[in-house]
Amino acid sequence: MGAVSGRPMLRGLCTVGRVVDLRSDTVTQPCADMRAAMARAAVGDDVYGEDPTVAELQAQVAALLGKEDAVLLPSGTMANLACILTHTTRGDQVLLGRQSHIHNWEQGNVSSLASCVMTPLDTNPDGTFTMSDLHAAVSADDQHMPRTRLVCLENSHGGHSGTAVPASFADAAGVLCAEHELVLHIDGARILNAAVALKVAPAELSRAAATVTLCLSKGLGAPVGSMATGTAAHMHSVRRWRKALGGGMRQAGELCFFWKLSGTRRRRAFLGARRRGPLSCRAPYVWEHWPYVQPSSNNMSLAIHSLLHVLLFHVCV
Ligand SMILES: Cc1ncc(COP(=O)(O)O)c(C=O)c1O
Repeated sequence: MGAVSGRPMLRGLCTVGRVVDLRSDTVTQPCADMRAAMARAAVGDDVYGEDPTVAELQAQVAALLGKEDAVLLPSGTMANLACILTHTTRGDQVLLGRQSHIHNWEQGNVSSLASCVMTPLDTNPDGTFTMSDLHAAVSADDQHMPRTRLVCLENSHGGHSGTAVPASFADAAGVLCAEHELVLHIDGARILNAAVALKVAPAELSRAAATVTLCLSKGLGAPVGSMATGTAAHMHSVRRWRKALGGGMRQAGELCFFWKLSGTRRRRAFLGARRRGPLSCRAPYVWEHWPYVQPSSNNMSLAIHSLLHVLLFHVCV
């Protein structure tokens, strides 16, 4: 949203020749605050676990999602894959929504790299599928069939116009997973936005899942980075897979610089905004008033929603 950043945004929108890029919430530009903070970030070698900025971010995100530990990775795709590799072994079956990002937009890496079978389930416009469909898709203990091991959900659901999915869905899936000794993973690229939309604590949306991923580089406006969260044992494995996938980063604290900004400056920085004025920010709910993803009927209305939320953000702050 670089073209619309800054105090004169509303004016900017009306200015001939200025372009508002609504392709994606990934198309953002770091502002001067973000870049300045980046230069100040305390860093260390994160592959050695020695980057204090990364460590602090990981601890805070883990707490936010109610998990023991978190790991910073370069992308959401790698975060999902590292979790899937953690939970599965060659030949396992992964159940997931037909319109999910993991199924449609991660190059089939569940098959090509994790050597698992993906079985897609039809999803409703609200991003859910029925528990009876999920139950029916679990393979019998039969030598002809792959061993069902993992269920992946997505929240908010990008394939369904960014719909925020209530916690009850993941909770129900979690119960079914427990009955069948399956593992539940949530692709939560925008789970914090979903939490704001649903007016619930993020941990409510993540409580049923063993692992949850979250993207810093999307609805939160950071330039790079995603997180995986879960138990310490799962995150130990995710760190190992991250390294095997070439995602171990060294002085990565520079990427997490925004976390070190004060609440006020952090939220301004998220949007590249330069608007002045007081903000009340109760960390870690920096996204409390964050422009969030709303249920909407198609991608264009999602984009317009995003823009409206950016506008709202500016008005509110
Ligand atoms: C829901 C969802 N999950 C995962 C990803 C993958 O993230 P990345 O582009 O950082 O690999 C995306 C990307 O847009 C996404 O929308």
